[in-house]
Amino acid sequence: MFTDIHHHIIYGVDDGAPDFETAVQMLQKADQQGVRRIICTSHANPARSFFDADRYRMRLRKEQKYLQSQRINIQLAEGCEIMWMELVPRLLSEGQLLTLNASRYVLVEFYPDDKFRRIRSALESLCVAGYTPILAHAERYRALRPWRRLRELRTGLHMAVQMNADTIIHVPDLGLLSDRTPRHFLTEGLVDICATDSHNLTGRSCRMREAYRTLDRMFGAETAKEMCMVNPNCIWNDEIIG
Ligand SMILES: [Fe+2]
Repeated sequence: MFTDIHHHIIYGVDDGAPDFETAVQMLQKADQQGVRRIICTSHANPARSFFDADRYRMRLRKEQKYLQSQRINIQLAEGCEIMWMELVPRLLSEGQLLTLNASRYVLVEFYPDDKFRRIRSALESLCVAGYTPILAHAERYRALRPWRRLRELRTGLHMAVQMNADTIIHVPDLGLLSDRTPRHFLTEGLVDICATDSHNLTGRSCRMREAYRTLDRMFGAETAKEMCMVNPNCIWNDEIIG
């Protein structure tokens, strides 16, 4: 029932699943959490290294075969989480980097200290090149504090915003003295997608169901469905988020 558009499930290509056995356990965990579709977003940092799409696809196919052999009802699709640099639109157009499930959507991340102007112009460049950028884990960037900066960023840009499930789960516990930016992002309706950004089975595991329940409790079933099912499915199907 859930679609997770940000998940480091392909083994041995980034800091996600280190080996096939761990990937299998992560898939089992996703299954228990009710995740039925996963876009396998391995890290791509073109400033540092070449994204080996052949190796990535070989391992994705191996994981798909495992799911079929065990009759686990999860579909996998390709994608990557791209650390921004100016060359990214060109690398995307050449097929050296992957959009999400071959759609117009590009999952892009920045360094936590990157300046507002750099983030904004990167998103603009992706739009101009014909893509729809999805800002990965929007809660991570200093340039988007206070929360109004995210609204400013979105103004006039055709883009989407993703927040990590773990962040959402912790939002109800934020005390008065803590940084409440993620809470404001949510209450102001600035987040389109909840995704797990799962890397492993311990500190960064797949907790989609808990995040869904938190959203349901705080904002109602419609918002929870939109963020965990409807909007992620729009991305999967290459449709415009409503
Ligand atoms: Fe990630």
